[in-house]
Amino acid sequence: MQQTRPPAFVYKKDILHADKLSLEKLAERYGTPLYVYSGTAIRERFRTFDSAFKPVPHTICYSVKANSNLSLLGILAKLGAGFDVVSGGELERVLAAGKAAAKKVVFSGVGKTAEEMALALKSDILIFNVESEAELDVLAATASRLKKRARMALRVNPDVFAETHPYISTGLREHKFGVGIDQASRLYHAAARQKYLEVAGVSVHIGSQITSVEPFAAAMARVADLVRALRMEGMAIRFVDAGGGLGISYTAQERTQEDFSKQSAEYAKAVMSALQGLGVHLLLEPGRSIVAPAGLLLARVIYKKRNGAKTFIIVDAAMNDLIRPSLYKAHHEIVPVAHPDAPPITADIVGPVCETGDFFARDRAIPECTSGDLLAILDAGAYGMALASNYNTRPRPAEVLVEGSSVKVVRKRETVRDLIKAEL
Ligand code: LLP
Repeated sequence: MQQTRPPAFVYKKDILHADKLSLEKLAERYGTPLYVYSGTAIRERFRTFDSAFKPVPHTICYSVKANSNLSLLGILAKLGAGFDVVSGGELERVLAAGKAAAKKVVFSGVGKTAEEMALALKSDILIFNVESEAELDVLAATASRLKKRARMALRVNPDVFAETHPYISTGLREHKFGVGIDQASRLYHAAARQKYLEVAGVSVHIGSQITSVEPFAAAMARVADLVRALRMEGMAIRFVDAGGGLGISYTAQERTQEDFSKQSAEYAKAVMSALQGLGVHLLLEPGRSIVAPAGLLLARVIYKKRNGAKTFIIVDAAMNDLIRPSLYKAHHEIVPVAHPDAPPITADIVGPVCETGDFFARDRAIPECTSGDLLAILDAGAYGMALASNYNTRPRPAEVLVEGSSVKVVRKRETVRDLIKAEL
């Protein structure tokens, strides 16, 4: 059976490795379920994405929500990344990862509070992506209270349809995000009248896991028109934030480093060509495309059982550790750590949580495996640990970062004690 995997994770003598380390050894040493990230892959992907935008002045503001582990943020900060944050908490993570990175932070989100704005102003972030008139008023009031000028962009809703899961599509008029592009001019003028606001940019984000470049090009064309119109009205628009959203392949196809170079180049071309001649500084907010294929979730098989015609492989990871399959019916490749050539069986791969929706794969062909075997759930570096919960009082997994032949625990495994200690 052909085994598929991102380049960070390869079989050596029929054992799956993360960079140079055997996943069997990592599981023995750190236990399961375990998130394993490849630092090498993260660097490589960031550099690839970044270099696709070389022709224009730009900053890659990694979207912290995809994976907010401090060590990952540290790696990216050292590579010169900025960050896209959507809460005061995410901003504090960036500050903890490297104070200097604050200067390259964009603050998005529909519900920023005055406290969060104040923290961002004191941290001298790059720009606020404002998503409503009400928010604009609170930002103006907060900035004037602190006597600090807030650079701002409006997040406009370009009303483009992007083919993706409805929960993660954001660029239509009916979505809660941004302001209608037809409202933009009025709000920019309102902003320009405020002493402590500096109108500086236009931002857009149309959704996530978008695998064709056309919707990005369509959105950018509308943004470019808006920039031209606003400049005619005297607004000094210097920044265009194209948001995140570039999808990855969650299947066997098109997942080599060369594929990613090609995908990044196509995406960059779609974004850049619409903006040609505007001379803006481009901001990008990729999350998934940088970290998803650089991480996997390692789980051990607890039991195998049959119910009627179905075979279930019950593993020690569950929907609380990685919710994407349950929440979005997302497909993740699942491969055995050893014996990749065992004859395949068809099974549901499920966790121990008491919900029928607790599954990683249904009716999946997988090499025969049994209690004690290890499975790797691939492409779990983005929106894996970030969305993990303690449902069923399950402590969240440890996270380890592999770089070549060295490994570091970048988040300790939670204990039940951690879970109950805040309760009175
Ligand atoms: N910028 C903004 C304003 C966003 O809302 C998002 C993602 C990003 C950037 C990063 O998008 P990316 O490059 O990662 O596609 N939990 C879902 C994905 C939710 C995305 C939310 N916003 C999943 O697991 O598929």
